[in-house]
Parts: sequence; C-alpha cells; structure tokens
Amino acid sequence: MDKVISFVLVVFICCICTGGNGQSAAGEIPSLKTVFKEDFLVGAALNRHQVNETDPMATACIARQFNTLTPENDMKAALIHPEWGRYNFTEADKIIAFGERHQLQINAHTLIWHSQLPAFVMHMHDKDSLQRFFKDHISVIASRYDGKVYSWDVVNEALNEDGTMRKSLFQRTLGDDYVVQAFQLAGQAAPHTKLYYNDYNIERPEKRAGAVALIRKIQAAGVRIDGVGIQGHWHLGRVPLKDIEESILAYAALGIDVMFTELDISVLPDPKGVEGADVNQQKGYNNALNPYAGSLPDSVQQQLARDYENLFRLFLRYKDKIGRVTFWGVNDGDSWLNNWPVPGRTNYPLLFDRQFNPKMAFNKVIALKTGTVTK
Ligand code: G3I
Repeated sequence: MDKVISFVLVVFICCICTGGNGQSAAGEIPSLKTVFKEDFLVGAALNRHQVNETDPMATACIARQFNTLTPENDMKAALIHPEWGRYNFTEADKIIAFGERHQLQINAHTLIWHSQLPAFVMHMHDKDSLQRFFKDHISVIASRYDGKVYSWDVVNEALNEDGTMRKSLFQRTLGDDYVVQAFQLAGQAAPHTKLYYNDYNIERPEKRAGAVALIRKIQAAGVRIDGVGIQGHWHLGRVPLKDIEESILAYAALGIDVMFTELDISVLPDPKGVEGADVNQQKGYNNALNPYAGSLPDSVQQQLARDYENLFRLFLRYKDKIGRVTFWGVNDGDSWLNNWPVPGRTNYPLLFDRQFNPKMAFNKVIALKTGTVTK
C-alpha cells in the first residue's frame, strides 16, 4: 500500500514540475528562458485569464518558459482610460503583481495606438481636446508604472505599408510630429523605463525605410528612444529571413535595441486582400479557409518547425543586437489568429499546442542550443 501511495505522489510531483503535460521528470520539458538565457529574453503576450491564474497549467507553463511578458490587451487606452479623466488600473496593477510574483520583466503595451481607443477619444475632432488627452494619457500612465515596468511600446503602428505616416486620428489632428511628442512626454514621465516604437511588417524594405526615418527624426529632436519592436506576424513557408536580417542590421545601426515583440506564424490560408496585422480587417468564414479544424497534418507541423528553426537560427546569429523575443500568446488556443482575419478558425501559430504540449517547432528551437536529437 505504501508503494502505491509513493507512486501516486511521484506522479503528482512530476505533473506539477512539467506543467501537467505528461512528461516524466527525467524527460522534463526544457525551458526557453533557461536555454536562451545568455542570448535574449523570451516572452509571451498574456491575456486576462492568464494574469488571473484561472488555469494552473497556463501559470506553470508561463512561469517555467518565459522571463518577460506583454499584456495582450489590458493596458490599451480603451481599457485603462475608458472615460475622460477616469482611469481603470485594476487589471494593469494585476499584471504588475503577476510579473513580480513570477519574476517576469514587463513590456507595457501600448500608450499611443490608433486602434482600441476609448469612445470619447474616437469622436474628438478638435486639436486642443485631443492634445490634452494625449498629454494626460501618456503622463498619468507612464509615470504610474515607471520603475514597475521595464519598457513601454510608446507608439504602436504609426506607419503605412509604403513607409509614409498612417493617417490616424493622431496624425490628422496633431500632425506628423505627434510621434516625437509621445516619446518626449513618455521620457519625462518615465525616466527609468525603456521606450520603444512597435510595428508590423517593418522588416519589409519600404516600410523599414519609413521606420528608420521616423526613429532618426526622434533622435534628431534630442528625444530618447531605446528600441524598436518588429512585431513578427508571419506566415507558414514565407518567413522573410533576408528582410529580417537586413532589418536587424539597419535598426541596430541606429544605436537602439532590436526586439521581436509579437511573434507567431499563421498556418492558415489568407483570404484575398488581407495584409499585415491591421485588426480592422475582417473576412467571412468558409470551410476552405479553415482546413485543419480537426488536427494539423504532419507535413504542416514539419514546415512550421523548419520555419521556427530557421528564424531562431537567425536570432542566435544576431543575439548581440536582439534584446527580446516575445510570442503573441502562450499556446495555440490563445492566439488572436483563431479569430483574425476570419472568426472561428483553428490556427496553430505558436510553440505549444492547446494542451501546453511542446510542438515539434519547440523541439527544433531548443535543439539549436542543446544539440539534442529531436523528432
Ligand atoms: O473584452 C471583450 C469582451 O468583453 C467581449 O465579450 C468580446 C467580444 O468580442 O470582446 C472582448 O474584447 C476583445 C479583446 O481582444 C479581448 O479578447 C476585442 O473585441 C478584440 O478586438 C481584442 O482583440 C485584440 C486586438 O489586438 C485589438 O486590440 C487581440 O486580442 C490582440 O491580440 C491584438 O493585438 C494586436 C497588438 O495589440 C498590436 N499588434 C497587432 C496585434 C494583433 O492584432
């Protein structure tokens, strides 16, 4: 009987140690943050459920695998500043506490973005009101979390695909210089926090030229900018390695940190006309657009693994220039790509499956460092 109790106890402890994914302690799942600790930080975007620790398996996976987090939604303007002069810090404060509890560095996301704006701002047309919101929003929030978060995505997605300034509410009302002003205000409010520009597709030559010009403009104004986030929303078999390599070099040459901030690789077909990661693009569902609703074919799993392996090989080559690699989600079930640009699909863009089991892509990425033979 004693032996039975001991066996049950060992199985229980193994489950806790491995996040309950069935691997034995001897074959414990490697940890991304440990394996890459000499190279760059490894993180994930966390949703509210994960921060509230409603799923112990999610908490175990996050604590074991990552040393940095980005809140997926809860520090965006619509949620943290819902009404004029009224802030809601409840969820953001929980994110800070979660980071402290599990020793994860926090990249706060995001101060100025044209999307997910509170209703009272979307209907603002006069310059004075918008300028006041802009100043108050940045100053109040950035100063509250100075010293508590490591970095801020100060401005998110200010550029068009051709590298020109996006005609957002901020650009139309405050002019092109709003980006410089945002960094200036953030720098004053948060002197101990790193300040980043974050965007998608800025590895592409045309958009990259726009981002380089924008960063140079901030620097030329004598305003602090510490880094750039290449979001990294890419597609199976089409990860633009050459563009990524050229971009790492181009951005590093500006004297700033380079980060990959929202990494995922969609395995699903793109509906016609969808580009980039603009959240406003939505297309109707049909079965042809959701080919792997039941499971992922092995050939696709292998291609995904090759894509991640090639990408991380490149990251390792330039590890002296790369500060952080953050996945946009923890497991495939969390990903925004299950609902964008087509709602209700089953995508597989991350390193962990829906049960938190490491995928072939995870093993390939780890093997780049450990040299272990993987399937
Ligand atoms: O919280 C509400 C919930 O109350 C409601 O029942 C539900 C019904 O739709 O919506 C919930 O809010 C959604 C929110 O995600 C939380 O799940 C919003 O509708 C939805 O628009 C929002 O989507 C987020 C999107 O940004 C827009 O903010 C995605 O989760 C998030 O992954 C995505 O992240 C962006 C980055 O911030 C910037 N770069 C691109 C990236 C992907 O689009």
